[in-house]
Amino acid sequence: MTTPTSSGAEGSRPAQTIAYPSPTSRTRHGPPGDPVVVVLFGATGDLARRKLLCGLGHLVGLDFTPEIEVIGTSLEDMDDEEFRTFARESIAAVGARKLSEAQWTAFESCLHYVPTSAGPAALAAKVAESRARLGDDARLLHYLSVPPKAAPKVIDTLRAAALVDRARVIMEKPFGEDLESAVALNAELHETFDESQIFRIDHFLGKEAAQNILAFRFANGLFEPIWNRNFIDHIQIDVPEKLGLDARAAFYEPTGAYKDMVVTHLFQVMAFVAMEPPTALEPRAISEEKNKVFRSLEPVLPGDVVRGQYAGYRREEGVDPESDTETFIALRAHIDNWRWAGVPFYLRTGKRLAEGQRIISIAFKEAPKSMFPAGSGIGTEGPDHLTFDLADESRVSLSFYGKRPGPGMRLDKLSMQFSAVETERTDDILEAYERLILDAMNGDHTLFTTAEGIESLWERSAPLMEDPPTVKPYAPGSWGPNQIHQLIAPHAWRLPFERNWREKR
Ligand code: BG6
Repeated sequence: MTTPTSSGAEGSRPAQTIAYPSPTSRTRHGPPGDPVVVVLFGATGDLARRKLLCGLGHLVGLDFTPEIEVIGTSLEDMDDEEFRTFARESIAAVGARKLSEAQWTAFESCLHYVPTSAGPAALAAKVAESRARLGDDARLLHYLSVPPKAAPKVIDTLRAAALVDRARVIMEKPFGEDLESAVALNAELHETFDESQIFRIDHFLGKEAAQNILAFRFANGLFEPIWNRNFIDHIQIDVPEKLGLDARAAFYEPTGAYKDMVVTHLFQVMAFVAMEPPTALEPRAISEEKNKVFRSLEPVLPGDVVRGQYAGYRREEGVDPESDTETFIALRAHIDNWRWAGVPFYLRTGKRLAEGQRIISIAFKEAPKSMFPAGSGIGTEGPDHLTFDLADESRVSLSFYGKRPGPGMRLDKLSMQFSAVETERTDDILEAYERLILDAMNGDHTLFTTAEGIESLWERSAPLMEDPPTVKPYAPGSWGPNQIHQLIAPHAWRLPFERNWREKR
């Protein structure tokens, strides 16, 4: 586990008084840690409205959550009451989780607000009030739900308000906009916070299903021996979204699909699929293995990328009528190490596509087929696949050819499927942000990304970012520009599925 450094990590108290819960010994249902004042920057933004406010509301009152107070802050001028109304209406309208009346009542009294314009002293005073209610042992958790460009200013405010001691800070993605800005942001952060206080969030790693990849690979003897170039033909990480811009033009225009989704979520998930077995389920071991994958990732070349923009994007409110921002991206990545040499990884994501899905599909090499006659059906439905669905149901499917019942030898594509819903523990599922906020409250870095990892990814992204291919138009409701088929040939995209996931009967 990580131990606090003597450099005053997490504040100016003597190091020996800083109690870190052990990430390896604590389970999600362990006893709650010290009370926490959560300071939410960007409290009226899209992420807060959709995920963070309802997530915090859901955590309040769970027996493994510390006692919390939430102080929202943003450019909007509001008081506590107005913020409560805003939070209630946002959760009802767009929140990923709805709160019961009892949950809301418990949460409402924890909510406070101070506008950014009131300055650092007003923020400090508001935090002091919450601390007085929670007790001397209360910690601070600053959630920077702000665009990369706004982050340095928030850090300055925290320093000016003396809100650094006993504080942790969650940094939203994308972390920087390229290698140079990420290095600068890290340097700036380190002037104020020790690395042990910093939590760079990538919410895909908080998804149950992403963690299930680790369980699947490293808790079973069956799969790891075939998890390499000898048995695996190619891998797809496919995250099409039906969603459009949703009034996020100010964020999306300078960001685009590559920085919004690939350099963050898709590459992070790829690392879980591709990494070597870590020595332990603890932050350093996991980060080390993930970072090795990033170091082995070959630079992303423009010729391996298809960029797309949905028809009508340039007419969206807040979008430049000549915008070159990609709302779609598909690419071929290569990991140059012994395990993966020669195995292409195909990544795809985009807005306003035909379906919303989040799948990882591992295509195994085909069997020689020698004993099955032509016409038996062998090989007609592609290779055997192992498919992970990153949705909350955390589904896994293993497809294979099997005999069709009846006379003769006809082969059909069959599958064995699992869904977390079948475990009857559905109520225990924490939404990704909830899980990660709770981990950050408890000082557990296991599922967070590191400066080194992020910097490697920006470095490998440079060829693409310096010379991006022109964006190709695609029709909303399609699967992207036509060029995606050439990119993956001679293989084919798994989506749309020929057969849907089975529902439990
Ligand atoms: C966010 C991106 O990080 O992830 C969004 O900024 C995207 O553009 C979202 O829609 C997808 O996350 P999820 O959990 O809904 O799959």
